[in-house]
Amino acid sequence: MKKIVVAVDGFSSNGKSTMAKSLAKEIGYIYIDSGAMYRAVTLYCIQHNLFRGDELDENKLLSEIKNIEIKFRLNKDTNLPETYLNGENVEAEIRTMEVSSKVSIVSALPFVRQAMVASQQTMGKEKEIVMDGRDIGTVVFPDAELKIFVTAEPEIRAQRRFDELKAKGDNKTTYEEVLENLRMRDHLDQTREESPLKMADDAILLDNSYMTIDEQMQWLIDKFNQIINNQK
Ligand code: DC
Repeated sequence: MKKIVVAVDGFSSNGKSTMAKSLAKEIGYIYIDSGAMYRAVTLYCIQHNLFRGDELDENKLLSEIKNIEIKFRLNKDTNLPETYLNGENVEAEIRTMEVSSKVSIVSALPFVRQAMVASQQTMGKEKEIVMDGRDIGTVVFPDAELKIFVTAEPEIRAQRRFDELKAKGDNKTTYEEVLENLRMRDHLDQTREESPLKMADDAILLDNSYMTIDEQMQWLIDKFNQIINNQK
């Protein structure tokens, strides 16, 4: 069977990771969460005191970026990939609000993006990969055979993210804070100079505001099968 690259891009907290993960499982492909890589670099900056408030010591990060190793390993119990920063499992730490509120600063830096994109391209060399992010179909894999651009209404995305944080035991963060953080990240993602979030010309749009997870999966598998059947 033809091996392809599936690029899933879109706004934050729209369920694209869940979708991409399930698709990868269903079709036996590797799943890579590229946002987790930017989050891991941000966590590194926090852990090494490179932030003074929202001010980042970019020169220090530039001199240390080569020491930052990000890997994904499968958790055998959940059968899901988890993020490792220099050998340490940071899957939970990279999902906190502290990281979410600083990640846009880190992911806007060209030298950070260059390092992450190079590593992502290496991971996709053999194809059979589903990668989600913001610039996967435009910059990382412009030749990806299947490109999906996911969107949903901001209030719906904020509610989903809020429910997720609550389920993880965060009772401090309010819905309004989540919505504000999400709107801010949407704005920063779309307006940054380096690889802004935008739909690739050849991507297919999916608005999942009013779709169930099952409906999305069926939609995605249909698209995948169409490509595979057209490209034997
Ligand atoms: O998908 P996410 O919310 O976990 O991503 C975290 C941040 O990383 C998000 O604010 C945008 C950035 N990001 C990016 O710039 N490029 C990617 N390919 C993936 C994520």
